[in-house]
Amino acid sequence: MSQTPPSHNQFDNKSQAWSARFSEPVSDLVKRYTASVGFDQRMAAFDIQGSLAHADMLAAVGVISGDDLAAIQRGMAQIQDEIEQGHFTWSLDLEDVHLNIEKRLVELIGDAGKRLHTGRSRNDQVATDIRLWLRHQIDLCTGLLQALRRRLAELALEHADTILPGFTHLQVAQPVTFGHHLLAYAEMFGRDAERMADCRHRVNRLPLGAAALAGTSYPIDRERVARTLGFDGVCRNSLDAVSDRDFAIEFCADSALIMMHVSRMSEELVLWMNPRVGFIDLADRFCTGSSIMPQKKNPDVPELARGKTGRVYGHLMALLTLMKGQPLAYNKDNQEDKEGLFDTADTIRDTLTIFADMMGGIRVRPDAMRAAALQGYATATDLADYLVKRGLPFRDAHETVALAVRSCEQRGCDLADLSLAELQAFHPDIAADVFQVLTLEGSVAARKHIGGTAPERVRIEAQRILDETH
Ligand code: ARG
Repeated sequence: MSQTPPSHNQFDNKSQAWSARFSEPVSDLVKRYTASVGFDQRMAAFDIQGSLAHADMLAAVGVISGDDLAAIQRGMAQIQDEIEQGHFTWSLDLEDVHLNIEKRLVELIGDAGKRLHTGRSRNDQVATDIRLWLRHQIDLCTGLLQALRRRLAELALEHADTILPGFTHLQVAQPVTFGHHLLAYAEMFGRDAERMADCRHRVNRLPLGAAALAGTSYPIDRERVARTLGFDGVCRNSLDAVSDRDFAIEFCADSALIMMHVSRMSEELVLWMNPRVGFIDLADRFCTGSSIMPQKKNPDVPELARGKTGRVYGHLMALLTLMKGQPLAYNKDNQEDKEGLFDTADTIRDTLTIFADMMGGIRVRPDAMRAAALQGYATATDLADYLVKRGLPFRDAHETVALAVRSCEQRGCDLADLSLAELQAFHPDIAADVFQVLTLEGSVAARKHIGGTAPERVRIEAQRILDETH
């Protein structure tokens, strides 16, 4: 029985890197099912960067020659160029981005290209690529979060004195300034940026050197590779390095929180755009009309952002579930980490970019806000506080004001519309100075402590955020 000897020239003769061991090819469907090149090619630049750092280290420790390194660098430069120009031919037969690039390298430079994979596996290679890719995305997202905060702070400065009703239970509660309301979101996005920065520490560790799972017998210098690639350090356990994707899950969780905040803001924008509310108008470029109702202007962008929050949550759940059943170390399951992760990053990048632009361009309607604040007895708490300052226990003051509000409701007027005599009927200690606290301006101006809604406080906080984000 004649047997074909195992190929020592695999990339020249066969389309797959492990062909010599197998006696029949996979079906086209299985090929498509198992291939990731359709989506992981977007990590190509980072794959090349990782390979160059690995080759540089192999040469430095004497595993490959200086000539081999030079050839690898030359070949990779050409491949990078081909990819950027759109001339690179991606092949499904070569399964993923790693094998496609390696195959092309061998075509271009021969044996030196075949030495690149010494002391490395696609398992530590892919883990490295994802971390490099994700680190870049984190930096982009952090920048976008800060840009959005800056827009909110600019708008807050403009509207430090604009008053609208603050709500609890979506009922008018107390007057607040619009600037203060906007800065609430700047705080949320500030924490989101902190979380991203924190996540970056755990993403920024080098898996290379773990090889398939157990490390390698070559005298590698992992610290050198880490330095070259800008990692803060190396993964300390090879089994963990190739297998866990907790860093990607963490990014998805942080992204889910970003989208949760975006979605809350969207919900308010939609509400404020409703003609019955009419607090703001979004620029036309973020809205669409209706194909049947000519009068409509729909807040599509906030609605869609609210909707896209669901898909980002979904990716988080998918990745958590992907990971939970996997024994150590690498399993092919992990190839499924990418599309959800990529889509998460794409979604938050696009969303944050659009929102910064959209918030910069909203038209605010201070009159509508003010009218709404005057409608719901928003200064009732201020009247209670006024009575407390004149010696009443707070609970009694609360009760007195509740009676006054009830009487206003019956007459269809606001507290500030009552005459001094009418107010004094509820409590004799009420004096002419009460009208200062019953005004919206008096109410917000009094809350000037850190975290309060007073215009002077809003200006301080907005300036702080502008200084932080310049
Ligand atoms: N395409 C693979 C992935 O995304 C690369 C690693 C493959 N390793 C393996 N042993 N099949 O995870």
